[in-house]
Parts: sequence; structure tokens; C-alpha cells
Amino acid sequence: MVNVARLLACAAVLAGFVQAGAKPSQGTPVYTGVKSFPTEVFAGMYYTPKNMEQEPRPVVSRLNGGVFPDSLNNPTQLPTAPPASEALMPPKLHGKEQVDALVNDAFNIAGQLFHQSNPPSLSCNLCKAGVATLQKLAHVNPEILPDVMGTICDTFGVFALLNYKQECKRTLSKAVYGGPITEVLSAANLTEGAIDAQGICGQIPALNLCPKPSERFSDDFLNSWFRGKRHAPKHVTKRWSQIKQRKDSQPKTPKSQLLRVPHLTDLHLDGRYMVGTESDCTYGETVACCRVNSYNLTKYHGQFVHGHLPDSDIVHKANYWGSLECDTPWSLMANSFQALKELGGDRGWDFTIFTGDLVVHDDLYRYSHDLVEYSEQSIYDMFKHYLGDTPLIPSLGNHDTSPENIMAPDSLPYGMGNEYQWDVEYIAELWSSKNWLNKKQANQVRTHQGAYSISPREGFRIIALNTDFWYYVNFYNYINMENPDMSGNLRFLTDELLAAEEAGERVWIIGHVLTGWSGEEALNRPGNLFYQIVSRFAPHTLAHIFFGHTHEDHFQLFYFNDNGASLTADRSTKNAVAQAFIAPSVTPYIKLNPAIRVMHVDPETYEVMDYDQYYSQIAEYDDIIHKKLNHGPVWRHLYSARDAYGDFHGSLNKGNYQAGVTLNGTRWPDNAPLNGTFWAALTDEMEARPELVTYFSEYQSRLSPTAHKCTSAKCHKANICYMRSGSPLQGQQCDSSYSAVGR
Ligand SMILES: *[C@@H]1O[C@H](CO)[C@@H](O)[C@H](O)[C@H]1NC(C)=O
Ligand SMILES: *[C@@H]1O[C@H](CO)[C@@H](O)[C@H](O)[C@H]1NC(C)=O
Ligand SMILES: *[C@@H]1O[C@H](CO)[C@@H](O)[C@H](O)[C@H]1NC(C)=O
Ligand SMILES: *[C@@H]1O[C@H](CO)[C@@H](O)[C@H](O)[C@H]1NC(C)=O
Repeated sequence: MVNVARLLACAAVLAGFVQAGAKPSQGTPVYTGVKSFPTEVFAGMYYTPKNMEQEPRPVVSRLNGGVFPDSLNNPTQLPTAPPASEALMPPKLHGKEQVDALVNDAFNIAGQLFHQSNPPSLSCNLCKAGVATLQKLAHVNPEILPDVMGTICDTFGVFALLNYKQECKRTLSKAVYGGPITEVLSAANLTEGAIDAQGICGQIPALNLCPKPSERFSDDFLNSWFRGKRHAPKHVTKRWSQIKQRKDSQPKTPKSQLLRVPHLTDLHLDGRYMVGTESDCTYGETVACCRVNSYNLTKYHGQFVHGHLPDSDIVHKANYWGSLECDTPWSLMANSFQALKELGGDRGWDFTIFTGDLVVHDDLYRYSHDLVEYSEQSIYDMFKHYLGDTPLIPSLGNHDTSPENIMAPDSLPYGMGNEYQWDVEYIAELWSSKNWLNKKQANQVRTHQGAYSISPREGFRIIALNTDFWYYVNFYNYINMENPDMSGNLRFLTDELLAAEEAGERVWIIGHVLTGWSGEEALNRPGNLFYQIVSRFAPHTLAHIFFGHTHEDHFQLFYFNDNGASLTADRSTKNAVAQAFIAPSVTPYIKLNPAIRVMHVDPETYEVMDYDQYYSQIAEYDDIIHKKLNHGPVWRHLYSARDAYGDFHGSLNKGNYQAGVTLNGTRWPDNAPLNGTFWAALTDEMEARPELVTYFSEYQSRLSPTAHKCTSAKCHKANICYMRSGSPLQGQQCDSSYSAVGR
């Protein structure tokens, strides 16, 4: 008998060799943007450029009347601090300690910690003693703590040690991080046996002074977490395997019958983007380029404060349509929404998901409640305008709050959770006003601080999380660290999943901050609890997970694990239960081309059958301006997941194809979904054909000319390791040097 599969495999190997050295294609143009700004979307204009000399500045109406001031997107007016009224402070508690002696102790400890090289064990104890001292201060005289911390930070160059290029005093002021950190210090659990001090000293980046808290959960914990149902009931797994058997025996569902679902993420509007300034700037006192105060030290040696440098002192001028180093200006934002609408064609979309981050990357002290609400209002207005009646299912990102990155769980003392309710209330009302949420869901957003559960179609449910509650930068997560779910977001998620399981619904989870990949973003305990939840409910109830946050195009896998320790999971392909899609950003920040993803989804199983990746090349924007072309940015089709990754000839030939899915020759069958098994098998294929990782890394940045390419064996290995990491601790075992191509 002739082995057809083998013959086909050989042909594909030959094709593969041809492809190996090749670069991915730039893709076919699918939409050419218009030059003019869509002023009709807004209440009016503060400023309309005549010929792209500066960015447009629309007037945006507030939800409850009035308009946002022009100062929020006027490039010549950079604020230097949030309003004093936004400062936070815990109450003064009683204590008998002398303030002066405590301040002295704090300085002494900091001097030893940050000045000398101690053995790690000593540093850990010293750091814990430092936390205890600061807590006493926070109890007796909280008001002075921001200043004490700012002075310690300056004196010992702490930010420089952390490679954090910001000013200590401004960043640690009361209305920025000083107040929230004082609250955290005041409320941290420092009783005997609690792990908060260890967590603070171990998991705040680059301090790394203590071992990180253990990820492990006990059997008792998991039994009660899953309400006695540690595994899916028989009738549930049986129901799912019957559906799968039927699907596997049917031909593929025609593309015209699949649901079309865009996944947008990380928009990051920079209303203060200034055309003609330095885009390739030296990040110094500021984190944003393309600004009135941007300069590049190799070209300009002065102390630049404000204005326009002469062209000869600029490396690369900020383009009207956007720049590789900067967040999204108004022009590109509008162009991206127009592209989204055009790509939908006459048929439009079935629904759209957005995984968060609207607000600009900026110096912490330039954030304010108003900036966040302005970004939320203006961008959700655009979503509504361009999507019409198509439902949007949004989630909050770490930048969609002020101070950025942080939000207190409402279970904390001193009413800390209420201090962020302004934001939660605003989005609950805003999303309802667009008809994306009903009353029940709006109330869920209010009570679960951004989390909610929605059923856009019968038999299908999407659960949106506020992933700030596992994000390592959110200091409030360091209070009661033993408890992986102080916010109750994961409790809500689990109960929704239990109910969906009983009701026979298929579920997607959407959120912003990812749990795995390099393992740098989520805290170990909540990250691992999420892993346990995924393993419990996928694939029979939980179909897919969608994240953003890194701005780069990648994915992370989850494998079966039911013993409470993700690190012990057997991560071979036969054990894959799910994967999270991490979609590429619209913002170019940093060194990335803007991107929009469109998924094709089975209307019965809600499995992704394929996705199309679209993007726009920033390198072309200079030509648009210089050649005075009569159009805006051009969008192209970069790749389809099935075309790019659906061939398994490498692992077939090496005998390590282990997916258990019968291939069509060497290709993933047309009727099989791009589920966890597919992506796990892809990592095996990458081991057989490492050049596929290089390819993957080019897509990761959408062919950005300035991003890193993954070409070494070490990089290939690290990337495959990231892909197989769905929990923080799994990711932390990989070589961390290659976790991003843009940074
Ligand atoms: C503080 O930690 C101790 C020891 O783990 C624990 O018994 C106690 O419940 C914690 N307090 C709070 C408020 O969670
Ligand atoms: C500054 O300019 C130099 C010279 O053109 C360039 O190599 C560098 O990447 C630029 N950016 C920064 C952040 O230094
Ligand atoms: C993915 O789909 C294939 C084909 O239907 C199936 O054999 C496999 O078990 C699925 N894997 C998961 C994790 O759902
Ligand atoms: C197998 O591949 C061929 C060629 O691409 C295609 O025509 C056919 O529909 C595929 N069959 C399945 C079951 O995927």
C-alpha cells in the first residue's frame, strides 16, 4: 500500500526547505485609509489641523453632561501632578513608637539593603524588618511616609537599581504611588506566619530579596474552592465528547457560516502626541516619546524642556499618522476604527471583544481620574460609532485606572476598595449607555470591580475579568497574599463556570494581563489558581481564553493539572486542555506595527477555526507625508493562523507528532479547531523546525523593522518554553532574555 501521508510529507518537506530562509510576505493590502479625520464622531473640535501639521483634538462629551477640557489632549500642556484631591491616605492608627526613631531605623535598613552586598538570606530578613518599620510609621504618622520613601529612594538611588527611570519624589508623592503604598504598608498582614512581608520583598521586581511565595494549593483548599466538585461530572464530559465526535465526522463548516469576531487590544490613545518632535527619544525622566519634551541624547546634549527642536537635532520626527516608538495618536486611532469597520464589509461582525488598555503610557504623575475617563469615553464612543449595533464585550486593562496599574479589592479595610469606585462606576454606566450591558451585568461590574458575565448568544457565555487583581504592579495584591483572591474575581469566575457547566454552555474568558508566557506579569498564587480553574473546566466547558497586555502576538498553553501545583504538570501535547490567545496591539508602543485580529468561530462549539491577522506598516507613513499621498495608512492581511502554522511535516518526519488528531496529509484537518491541542502540537513542530520560531517572532512584531528577531537556538528554546507556560511559575523557569521582541 502506498503511504499517501508519507509522500505528502516529503513534498511538504521540500516546500518547507524553500520556505525556510524566506521572509514572511508583507501581505496583501485590504484597506486604504482616508486622509481626513472623522469629526462627525464627536461633539465638536478644539483643533482641526489644516494639513496634518498637528493632531486633531476632538471635543468629547462627558457621560453625565459637560465636556472634557482641551488640556487632556493638548500637546503643549503636560500636567506635572494629579489633582491633590486624588491623593490617598490610610487613617492614622495609634502606636507608641517615636516617629524620629522609626525614620532613623528605616534609613539604616535601607542603607544596608541598597548599599552593601549581603548574602541573600540576610537581605530577606533585613527587607522584612524594613517593611515592619515602615508599617509602624504608616500607623503612627502615615502623612509623612510618602516623603520618607521619596527621600530614601533618592538617597540610595533605588529606582536606578530597579532600572526604573523615573523621579523618586514625584512618583512617590501622595497623589501618585506614595498614598497607595502607605495604605498597603498600613494594612499588610505582618502577623506571625503571614507571607505578606516575604511577598513584598520577593515579588516586587528586581528587589527579589526573598524567595517568592509558594504557588501550591492544598487538597482541602481545592476541594472547597470547587465546592466539592474537583472534576467535571461524567454527564458533562460525555456530552462534550459526543459533540466532538459528531463534529470530527462532519466536513468543515463553510467559512460563510462561521461567526466573525474581531479581537482588539491595547489601544493606548496619546492625545498629547506632538507631530514633528523626537520619536526616537531617550527615555529619561519621561516614558513617552513624540512629546513636546522629547529628545535623543546622541543628537541633542542639552537639558531640553519644551518646544520644537531644530530638525538637525532630531533622529526621527514624529509622523502625523504614528511612530514606532510611541502610543497611538488621534489620527491613527480613527484610522484603525475605520479599518475595523471596512474589514467587516456589508455583513459586519457577529460581536467584538476588547481586552483592555485605552490610556496612554505616561509618567505616573501625568495620570488623573479625568484622563482615564476621557480616554474611556472617547474610545468607547468610537467603538459605538464604528460597530453600530454589533455588541462589544470589553474588559479593563491595567492602564484604565489612576494611578495607573492599581486598584484595591473592595474587601480591604479603611474603605480602600471604594477609592477606585469612581472608575468602576464610570465604565458600568458607560458600557450600559452603549447597550453592551444590561442592568444585571452593570451591577456585576460594580460589585466585582469590572468583572461580569454575559451571554451574547444562546448557549454561549463570556466572562470578563479585572486582571489587575493578579498583576504584580498592583501593590494592593500584596495585602493578605496567602489568599489568592482578595477581590473575589476568581470566585465569581468559578461560580459562573460551575453554572455554565450545568447549563451546558460554552465559555470564553477575556481579560487583560496574561498569567503565563515569561511568567513576569501575574503573581504566583492567583496565577496558579487561574491555571487550576482552566484545567478544571477546559475543554468541555471553557473553550478559549483571550488576553492582551504585552502588545505582541503570541499564545500560552494550559495542560491538565489537578494537584494544586502547576509546575508539576506533565506538559506534553496529549495533556493540553486549552490555550490563551494573546492578541497584538493597535498601539505601536514599542517598535511594533499596529494590528487588528479577526477570528472565525464555530457557532456551535465556539472554538476558533482560524484567525486573520491584519496590520499596518508604520515604515510607510513617512512616504504618505513626504510624497503628499492623498490617503491615510494602508492595512494589509499579514497571515492566517491555519496557513501559517497548520503544517506538521517536521514533527511527523521526526516521529514526535503527538496530537492524536489524524492529519490531512501533513496538515491540520479543515474541520478541526485551533484549540489547545493544535497550539501544543505547534510547539512540537517548532522543536522539529526551529525556523518556524523565527517566523513566529516576525509575526510577533508584525514585521516591525526595528524589533528583535528570534534566530538563535537559545531564543528558539526560550520561546517554546514561554508558549508552554500558562502559569507564572512555569514561565519563570524559562530563560527570560527573549520574552519580548519590541523591548
Ligand atoms: C493574617 O495572617 C495570619 C497568618 O497566616 C492569618 O491567620 C490571619 O487570618 C491573617 N489576617 C487576615 C486579616 O487575613
Ligand atoms: C537615539 O539616536 C541614536 C542615533 O541615531 C540611535 O542609535 C538610538 O537608537 C536613538 N534612541 C535612543 C533611545 O537612544
Ligand atoms: C481539539 O480538537 C481535536 C479535533 O476535534 C480533538 O481531537 C482534541 O481533543 C481537541 N483538544 C482539546 C484540548 O480540546
Ligand atoms: C484535505 O486537504 C485537501 C487539500 O487541501 C482539501 O481539499 C480537503 O478538504 C481536506 N480535507 C479535510 C478533511 O481537511
